[in-house]
Amino acid sequence: MADYSSTFAFAAPIADASSLQTILDPPMTTGDALANWNGELMPLRDVRVSVLDRAFLFGDAIYEVLRVYRGRPFLEAEHLERLRRSLREIRVSCDVDRLVHRMRETLRLAQVQEGLIYIQVTRGEAPRTHRFPQGDCRPNELVYVEEFTADPYAVPREAGAATVTIPDLRWKRCDIKSVNLLANCLAAQQAAEQGCVEALLVAADGTITEGSHMSAFGVMDGQVLTSPLSPSILPGITRGLLARLAARCDVPLQETSFRVTDLPQLDELFLTGTTSEVLPVVQVDGQAIGTGRPGPVTRALQAAYRQFLEEQNW
Ligand code: PDD
Repeated sequence: MADYSSTFAFAAPIADASSLQTILDPPMTTGDALANWNGELMPLRDVRVSVLDRAFLFGDAIYEVLRVYRGRPFLEAEHLERLRRSLREIRVSCDVDRLVHRMRETLRLAQVQEGLIYIQVTRGEAPRTHRFPQGDCRPNELVYVEEFTADPYAVPREAGAATVTIPDLRWKRCDIKSVNLLANCLAAQQAAEQGCVEALLVAADGTITEGSHMSAFGVMDGQVLTSPLSPSILPGITRGLLARLAARCDVPLQETSFRVTDLPQLDELFLTGTTSEVLPVVQVDGQAIGTGRPGPVTRALQAAYRQFLEEQNW
C-alpha cells in the first residue's frame, strides 16, 4: 500500500476459494430480530424512525455490539462500561440501567442462544441544525437481539484470512464507538472486492491502527504487539480480553504499534472482535505473513479464548 495516490484503486482478487466463499456467504444473521425501541418490543423490521433523527442527519449516535453465547451476553460489564463512556464523550444523557434492563428482557424473550445484541442511542429528533438541539430532544434508544444462522468466520478462523492494507481515512476520535462508519464501510467494501476478509487501516505515518471492524495484533520474536489505546483506535473489548489471555499463556504483549513496513518481519498477525473472536491473518496485500499459515501464538490464544468461554460456563 503506502502509495496514497491509489487509495481506492481496486486490485485483482487475491483470496483463495475458501475465504472468498466466506465473504460471499449470506449474512450471519436472519434479519429476523426482536427489538426494543424506546421501551416497546417489536420485530426489528417494524421499527420506524424519523428522518429528523440526528443519527440519520449527522451520524449523531453511538452503539455497542455484544456476542451472545449459550443465551448469555459475553463480557457484558465491559461493553456497558464502553457504552457509558461513548455516551459521555458525545454528551448524550441516557439511563443505561434502564437500557440494560431492556436488553436482558429482549434477550430473554427472543430466546436466542447464539447471536448478538445491538444497542444504539441517538441524540434524538430535532429540526436540522449542527449544534445540539435546544429544549426538548429525547434520545432514541434501540436494542435488538438477533440469532446467528451461521458463523461467517468459521472458515478463516481455521485456515487464516487474507487482508489488504488501506489508508486510515477516519476522524480523530476513533475511540468513540460512534455510528459514523463511512470510512470503515469503504475499507471493508474494498477488502471484500479484493476477496479479503478485512482491511488493515494504515495511518499517515505508516502505523497499522486496526482493522475496519476488528483490532489488529502482530507477533514478532515471540511478542504480541498492538496499537496502544489512543483516539486513533477503538478500545476493543476482545482486545482487552486478549491481553488477559496472553498473560495466561505467558505470551508477552506490548502496546506498541507496528508499521506496514514491519509486515515482512512479522511471524504472525491476527485480528480480534466480538464476532470474529481471534482470527489469524495469513496474507496481506497478497504477501504471506510468516509461514503463510496460522502460527502457534495465534493458535494458543484461540485455544485460551475457547477455554475462557468454557470456564465462564459459556
Ligand atoms: N466492531 N475496531 C473497530 C473499528 C471496530 O468497529 C470493532 C468492533 C473492533 C473490535 O472491538 P470489539 O472487540 O469490542 O468487538 C475494533 C463491531 C463488532 C461492529 O462494528 O460491528
